[in-house]
Amino acid sequence: MVVSCIKRLPIVNTSPQGGLFHRLFLTLRNKVKVQSGNTVNIASTTRIRQCHISIKGKGNTLTVDDGANLRGVQIELNGNNCSLTIGKYSVIGEGCYLSARENGTTLSIGENCMFSRNVKVMTSDGHDILCANKRINPAKSITIGSRVWLADSSVILKGCCIGSDSIVGIGSIVTKSIPKQCIAAGNPARIIKNNIHWQEELTY
Ligand SMILES: CC(C)(COP(=O)(O)OP(=O)(O)OC[C@H]1O[C@@H](n2cnc3c(N)ncnc32)[C@H](O)[C@@H]1OP(=O)(O)O)[C@@H](O)C(=O)NCCC(=O)NCCS
Repeated sequence: MVVSCIKRLPIVNTSPQGGLFHRLFLTLRNKVKVQSGNTVNIASTTRIRQCHISIKGKGNTLTVDDGANLRGVQIELNGNNCSLTIGKYSVIGEGCYLSARENGTTLSIGENCMFSRNVKVMTSDGHDILCANKRINPAKSITIGSRVWLADSSVILKGCCIGSDSIVGIGSIVTKSIPKQCIAAGNPARIIKNNIHWQEELTY
């Protein structure tokens, strides 16, 4: 993805090529709180409504690429130099929570992904766990490939990568990386099928 191709939305420190109408729509249809010193790149062909977008800290970047479709999603970047990217034509459903939290973490979502409702993807546990005064649960970046389907109420925890074309089953909790073209399900999620791919159309 080439970020410079995206029309920039001047919420904070960005140049105004994004178009006033698109910016106005975004701020009227969503709750957007972005501290200064952060960058928001929203392509003008996206559909984003009823979302909560919160960016705290400095040097963070949120990018939503062409054709992405988000409704009722909570997006959080919290820390310094974090990035959260949603690739072209990815669809993120209601009640989803996407969080890049703690300095330097990235949450990268590829193209044509489909996240059902109430999916959670978060790079941080949100609180320190200490053992002998040393933190044992540092935040870790998450990478989700292209054409990944995360079923209803699935959870992706810190450090996981999900390979392209894979599926995570309903209610599953992913604690380790999942390769491409497979189905993972359960808690903790385990691979239940290999060599698959999926299509949006339902044949019956
Ligand atoms: C992931 C999913 C698509 C897999 O379907 P499938 O390929 O037909 O899988 P199967 O039903 O053949 O199940 C295979 C095995 O995995 C287990 N399994 C399937 N889904 C599971 C889940 N979510 N959690 C735990 N185990 C699961 C089954 O019990 C079965 O176990 P067994 O081999 O011991 O009998 C399906 O489970 C699912 O999550 N459906 C909901 C999708 C959704 O959220 N749609 C909303 C619109 S986006």
